[in-house]
Amino acid sequence: MSLESLIRERRTVRKFNNLPVSEALVKSLLQKSEQLCPHDGESQWRYVYVGTDEARERLSGYISEKVLESRIARLTLSKVIESYQRRFLKIPAYLIAIADTDHDPIKNEEIYGTICRILQNFQLLSWEQQLGMAWITEPIIQNELFYKRIGLKEGERFVGMLEIGYFDKSPKARARTTADRYWTDSVYQ
Ligand SMILES: Cc1cc2nc3c(=O)[nH]c(=O)nc-3n(C[C@H](O)[C@H](O)[C@H](O)COP(=O)(O)O)c2cc1C
Repeated sequence: MSLESLIRERRTVRKFNNLPVSEALVKSLLQKSEQLCPHDGESQWRYVYVGTDEARERLSGYISEKVLESRIARLTLSKVIESYQRRFLKIPAYLIAIADTDHDPIKNEEIYGTICRILQNFQLLSWEQQLGMAWITEPIIQNELFYKRIGLKEGERFVGMLEIGYFDKSPKARARTTADRYWTDSVYQ
């Protein structure tokens, strides 16, 4: 597959089949992604991999915990939350990316940008192996309670969580925005 086709055809996958995901494969694709990603060589980050039945069960509980704090949500949304939880449990593997932070806000953005590039490389290399994923950043996981549960330490920043698995059907492509929409052909005086 050409590089352009790979980039063009990769899709976010939200529905996975039951095939198990190999932690060794995820690790090797991630290492390759890092090798292919330009970065300053100093920035620090880490990943949390969630792949065993027990760990996935724990994580799916953590994901719903924030919503369940609300009594109204417990009363009115319990069926929805249960069905979400069943879905979380079925996801074969998760990868959480965590960045170190720096006192310099510019440096922080550079680290964040680096990890985003690594994750995009990872999505593409995985797609080549028919391994799909969805990059998740929703408020249900972007909150202090979830951060505490996943062991985010002081001085660390949550970047994103990838839901990973094999799939039977590739989702339909959405229209992409072309670069000319963002194009300015001169700087302001
Ligand atoms: C930084 C980032 C955050 C995202 N967060 C979410 C999310 O919270 N929930 C979700 O369903 N998809 C999320 N996505 C996936 C996007 O919705 C998806 O990439 C977009 O719809 C385009 O689809 P495609 O990846 O198939 O081209 C995220 C993607 C990126 C790059």
